[in-house]
Amino acid sequence: MDIRKVTVIGAGIMGSGIAQVIAAAGINVVIEDAYSEALDKSEKTIVDSLSRLVKSGKISASDSENIRSRVGFSSDLGEAVSDSDIIIEAVPEIPDLKRKIFADVEKVAKPDSVLATNTSNIRISEIAKDLKNPERLVGMHFFNPPVIMKLVEVIKGEHTNDEAFETIYNLVKKIGKTPIKVLKDTAGFVVNRISAPESLFFCMLLQTGVDSPEAVDTFAKSQALPMGPYELMDYVGIDTVVHSLEYYSKTLSGDYGKCTYYGKMIKENKLGLKTGEGFYKWENKKAIIPKTEPSEKVELMDILSLEVNEAVKLIEDGVATPEDI
Ligand SMILES: NC(=O)c1ccc[n+]([C@@H]2O[C@H](COP(=O)([O-])OP(=O)(O)OC[C@H]3O[C@@H](n4cnc5c(N)ncnc54)[C@H](O)[C@@H]3O)[C@@H](O)[C@H]2O)c1
Repeated sequence: MDIRKVTVIGAGIMGSGIAQVIAAAGINVVIEDAYSEALDKSEKTIVDSLSRLVKSGKISASDSENIRSRVGFSSDLGEAVSDSDIIIEAVPEIPDLKRKIFADVEKVAKPDSVLATNTSNIRISEIAKDLKNPERLVGMHFFNPPVIMKLVEVIKGEHTNDEAFETIYNLVKKIGKTPIKVLKDTAGFVVNRISAPESLFFCMLLQTGVDSPEAVDTFAKSQALPMGPYELMDYVGIDTVVHSLEYYSKTLSGDYGKCTYYGKMIKENKLGLKTGEGFYKWENKKAIIPKTEPSEKVELMDILSLEVNEAVKLIEDGVATPEDI
């Protein structure tokens, strides 16, 4: 398929980054959002990101201008998608919302356009449930921040056809990312599924008063991990983490429903980086982590064994090949 225009629906953390990497590959892209302030914030995010790339010498000033000129903004869904070849949804992780967006998109998009969802966890078939043509919906799961992270999971829903799957797989390669094929539609796909038990484990550590976020994160960094688990959850967004756990409790195991600690943080608007405070206060996109001794209550093997266990289940279930995992 000759891709001339892509639309990204949802101008948040992910939508803005996804649009930027697509524009950087020479493709015109429009970001659509229901809220005009989200579009203003998105434009600023992209301009700031491009200027950081210029300052660090990764792109030239004229590259930056060209990339910026390829990104449009719109709050009109019909106008944004009617002539698009690929429409990527990046709205919050709420199944009903995603289904509603695609029902609206289907009314105004070209019949041969390919639809993609950046959902972190929700089965593609569940999002495609009410579509007249579910075969054209593919999972296209970027990681945060999309401008930096190379991996993109390309997920086949129960009805996804090979043509749509290959179109998204090839687009991922064209924008310089590394695709992995997720061949079976399962909650959390590969990467998030492997780390799902950790989200619960780290919740229960706090809920049962075993240790503090700063002690555990200091321990994680002492083991050469780039970010501790709590700093990472703040970065991703506590609301996104909670949506995932709620979904896993319905689809994978009721145990995921035992975590109540993060829900309390949402009530206090402590969503992490996006609200300026989560487990930590955030300033200039950096977490202020109180200095402390590393936790002696956790071990690296606690984390690794949870991950390996889940990876084995994915191979046994035929979700992805050992090579891709
Ligand atoms: N944050 C992460 O680390 C991360 C990583 C990978 C995937 N994801 C997934 O990407 C998706 C988006 O997450 P995010 O972190 O960018 O969220 P976000 O809250 O930063 O952005 C969501 C955007 O969607 C917009 N929106 C809400 N309702 C809309 C509607 N009806 N029409 C158009 N726009 C609407 C909001 O205004 C907001 O700008 C979620 O499915 C999430 O699970 C997130």
